[in-house]
Amino acid sequence: MKLLITGGAGFIGSNFISHILKTTKFSVVNFDVLTYAGNPENLAEFDSTPRYSFVRGDISDSKAVEGVLSAGFDALLNFAAETHVDRSILNAADFIRTNVVGTQTLLDAARRHGIPRYVQISTDEVYGSLGASGRFTETSHLAPNSPYSASKAGADLLVRAACRTYDLPAIVTRCSNNYGPFQFPEKFVPLMILNALEGKKLPVYGDGLYVRDWIHVQDHCRALERVLLEGQPGEVYNIGGSDERRNLDVVRRILQLTERSDELIQHVQDRPGHDRRYAVDSSKIERSLGWKPRIPFEEGLKETIQWYRENETWVQRVRSGAYLKYYEEMYDNRDHTLSRL
Ligand code: NAD
Ligand code: TYD
Repeated sequence: MKLLITGGAGFIGSNFISHILKTTKFSVVNFDVLTYAGNPENLAEFDSTPRYSFVRGDISDSKAVEGVLSAGFDALLNFAAETHVDRSILNAADFIRTNVVGTQTLLDAARRHGIPRYVQISTDEVYGSLGASGRFTETSHLAPNSPYSASKAGADLLVRAACRTYDLPAIVTRCSNNYGPFQFPEKFVPLMILNALEGKKLPVYGDGLYVRDWIHVQDHCRALERVLLEGQPGEVYNIGGSDERRNLDVVRRILQLTERSDELIQHVQDRPGHDRRYAVDSSKIERSLGWKPRIPFEEGLKETIQWYRENETWVQRVRSGAYLKYYEEMYDNRDHTLSRL
């Protein structure tokens, strides 16, 4: 298969590309505009792999999207998005441009080029917030509460419309909170790990009793591979780790594993509109595609802490902004352009 991956320089996209290149003979084109969240160093080990190419471009730029799609693909998986809830609260404009307009631009182009399969990587956050019991199923109402989740819900509905109106063979996946290697340290787990390792305060929003359903990124990637190969067009698949934790418990565990004191915990002002609890019912994908998460949170967290300990250079280059220059240094003078696809 020849895959077009959009947003493949981010956390989940780069883990997915790595998984695909290591476990299949598929070829991959990674189309990513490289925002602050895009780090081509995540895929540095494949820079000389002939089955992998990188194209810098914006999913909301229809000309650029047309250009890359004209190379011909068996499937398009859209990971590209603005993803940080706190940033969406400060300014939603980029979220609407990329997550909504960008998705529609991809759908239009995919339709024109007769793409045999389109997978939209979405999130459980489109369902809104749960009380103390219950779990999101694929038929739960969409009730997003942040500009981020509202923009992702908008994209999901556009995918549904393209499927119903134009028979675009599209699938939507909605996954719970991911953690693992290469996650940008503005997100909860890597931020807390790095602050703990450095002996800095760990900023816990509000009372810290918010609950997330954690899944290791490798389990998410295996689920996406199943959806790519066997998923039914027109369907939505929830993907969850079935491993619910309160934020405060996650922080305490990170402090134990890094041998730091609970005194580093600092309760800070809460996030406006903060969703209390997410929990995903994954029985549909388990039943129909034979997928199950394999990595227990405890094991995955230990391994992730170890990864951040061992990859100090990656962390330093993210912190200093040096990663933002990697593209110019590595790709600009090389024939990594459309002509090579
Ligand atoms: P990320 O923020 O780490 O990466 C996003 C990537 O998209 C970056 O490489 C960025 O450069 C690229 N991008 C942004 N705007 C673009 C544009 N206009 N054109 C092309 N590329 C663009 O995100 P992530 O955590 O890897 O999430 C990937 C997808 O999975 C997102 O769609 C997100 O909504 C979804 N998701 C994430 C989680 C999670 O816990 N991280 C959970 C469920 C679903
Ligand atoms: P986050 O990683 O931003 O994911 P999301 O909000 O999309 O679930 O946050 C996970 C949880 O951690 C969420 O309840 C907000 C909380 N949080 C903190 O308490 N402190 C922080 O510094 C951050 C970034 C998040």
